Amino acid sequence: MAEETTPRIAIVTGASRGIGAGIAVALAKQGRHVVLMARNVDKLNEVAAAITASGGKASVAACDVADHTALAAAIEAVADQHKRLDILVNNAGITRDNLMLRMSDDEWDSVLNTNLRAVFVACRAAVRPMMRGKWGRIVNIGSTSGLMGNAGQANYAAAKAGVVGLTKTIAREMASKGITANVVAPGFIDTDMTGVLPQQIKDLAIEHTPAKRMGRADEIAAAVAYFTSEEAGFTTGQVVAVDGGMTMY
Ligand code: NAI
Repeated sequence: MAEETTPRIAIVTGASRGIGAGIAVALAKQGRHVVLMARNVDKLNEVAAAITASGGKASVAACDVADHTALAAAIEAVADQHKRLDILVNNAGITRDNLMLRMSDDEWDSVLNTNLRAVFVACRAAVRPMMRGKWGRIVNIGSTSGLMGNAGQANYAAAKAGVVGLTKTIAREMASKGITANVVAPGFIDTDMTGVLPQQIKDLAIEHTPAKRMGRADEIAAAVAYFTSEEAGFTTGQVVAVDGGMTMY
């Protein structure tokens, strides 16, 4: 009953579309009040409206996660406003693909800033209010590229591998405080991010996926919803690949 009057507060970054929007919908179905974070307020409002139309609770906080000062401030503002922060899902991410020999420092820096440093900054800002509440769930979105490497993605694979090390460290530091931290590593998922890839690359990725298809955002969201559930309090420092079998060995 307490859950109904004071829902747990969940921040989902990159919630304006794709996997992030799917995660926001799934968490709202769990009864969480979801705070949607991304840069495009109009798109965020659309996702929030869809959630509230189906009886869920959602609000919007526009933020560029690559602006690390603004990101920390936005997370602190959510915690102050609701007087709690329970769940953080770091999902916002970008690609700037290039073969390593041709990759510019700028391509490296922009991906590391958005996909790794922002995750560290967001986690650091979120654990303080979580510690006050003696409960927290952090889920960071990795990638199979971070587990296996991927030609053309030195920056992205390094950032996503970094997310694994960061998350396991947070899990160790925070386990005794009731805060868990886990990684969901998607395989090849049908979103705008992969929509821009040439058909031949898509065919190759599907060929390397035992399930012989792309995954869907709601299939990633289901794994995130487990890690953020009340029941998952003893599950921490784990990496679950939701990838149609691509990385199994
Ligand atoms: P997408 O490109 O469709 O959506 C990315 C989201 O992140 C958007 O809401 C975008 O606005 C937001 N975002 C990007 N940069 C931002 C910034 N600086 N500040 C605030 N928001 C920002 O991508 P998709 O496919 O939904 O990916 C979501 C996550 O899943 C990413 O971390 C991605 O790396 C990861 N992933 C995706 C895979 C796929 O096959 N689609 C595979 C493995 C991992």
